[in-house]
Amino acid sequence: MLQAHRPSIGNEELEEVRKVFETGWLGMGSQVIEFENMVKEYLGVRNVVAVNTGSTALHITLDAYGIGPGDEVITPSLTFCAGIQGIISLGAIPVFCEVDPDTLNIDLDDMTGRITSKTKAIMPVHYCGYPCDMDRLLGIAGEKKVVVIEDAAHAFGSTYKGRKIGSIGDAACFSFDPIKNFTCGEGGAVTLNDDKFAEAIRRKRSLGITRDSWQRQKKAQSWYYEVVTQGYRYHMSNINAAIGIVQLKKLGRFIERRRWIVEEYNKAFKRIEGINIFKWEIREMAPFMYILRVDGDRRDEMMDFLASKGVASGVHYIPNHLQPFFSKYATELPATEKVWKEIVTLPLFYDMTDNDVELVISSVREFFGC
Ligand SMILES: Cc1ncc(COP(=O)(O)O)c(C=O)c1O
Repeated sequence: MLQAHRPSIGNEELEEVRKVFETGWLGMGSQVIEFENMVKEYLGVRNVVAVNTGSTALHITLDAYGIGPGDEVITPSLTFCAGIQGIISLGAIPVFCEVDPDTLNIDLDDMTGRITSKTKAIMPVHYCGYPCDMDRLLGIAGEKKVVVIEDAAHAFGSTYKGRKIGSIGDAACFSFDPIKNFTCGEGGAVTLNDDKFAEAIRRKRSLGITRDSWQRQKKAQSWYYEVVTQGYRYHMSNINAAIGIVQLKKLGRFIERRRWIVEEYNKAFKRIEGINIFKWEIREMAPFMYILRVDGDRRDEMMDFLASKGVASGVHYIPNHLQPFFSKYATELPATEKVWKEIVTLPLFYDMTDNDVELVISSVREFFGC
């Protein structure tokens, strides 16, 4: 079976992990600092805080920006549940909004209509790596005085008007899980230009512990620390950072290959009646997933057909307002409910061969009888 996602990892990553083993310092240390500096340079952003997952990046950022009981956070329903769980865990309220069916990114008109006096944050998602309209989004947020916490889990390497996602807004949260544009094994990062919030996030990452006062008063012992705020144990380990250090160096070619596959798919599928491809500007995109829309209630049938040809596919995502645990936040979202029944995710990963790409294309063509 051709998988839908797979990391591209090998001996170079193993070699870097071996070096960590040799130092005996497995937790957060010099590799994490090196990884953060690499990400900082790549994105052109002032602060990078590496954490253990994209989910914890979202949680800790919401928390550091003071999102709490009764606050509303607007986010598309059509996304992974990680951000929603983060909102709820803080006692805040997820307010679900629509996506634009042509891009799967947040529908800014619908989002604006849902802003109230309780809205404290907006959490957009750069779906599949396609950047949201950041100028308009940040303009609305600035006017309404709400913070924008980008769920950039899909979008490491994507740009908006030539600027890297992760360097533009208030704060962006990335995921480096096994199937993302590059991986740390598991990992995440918060990127932001604001030094004050970066410091707050750093403290929350390490159980609210600081050694700052020790650093200031050099006379105190090296074992001295202070717990100065509520926090979590969300730091990245040297083992994960070591994998990321190698992977980040390969990102340029990962992106080029993924773009090439997306372009091959688009060329093939745009001619097929019954399929809608998305209006994505590929040069701004580090494509994480390839999704298309299937007309006429045929999505599930197509997925079964692809499986019979040895091609795995998926659905990203089931809208959150339809999930049992989030049902109390359910609201009218007709565009989302229509589009999610049409979307299917096809294989997209760096190590796909040209033959793999051809297998996907010919299987889809066969399903549509062309
Ligand atoms: C949109 C989105 N946000 C957040 C996450 C969470 O990232 P992680 O798996 O690193 O916790 C994911 C993971 O797939 C995601 O797709």
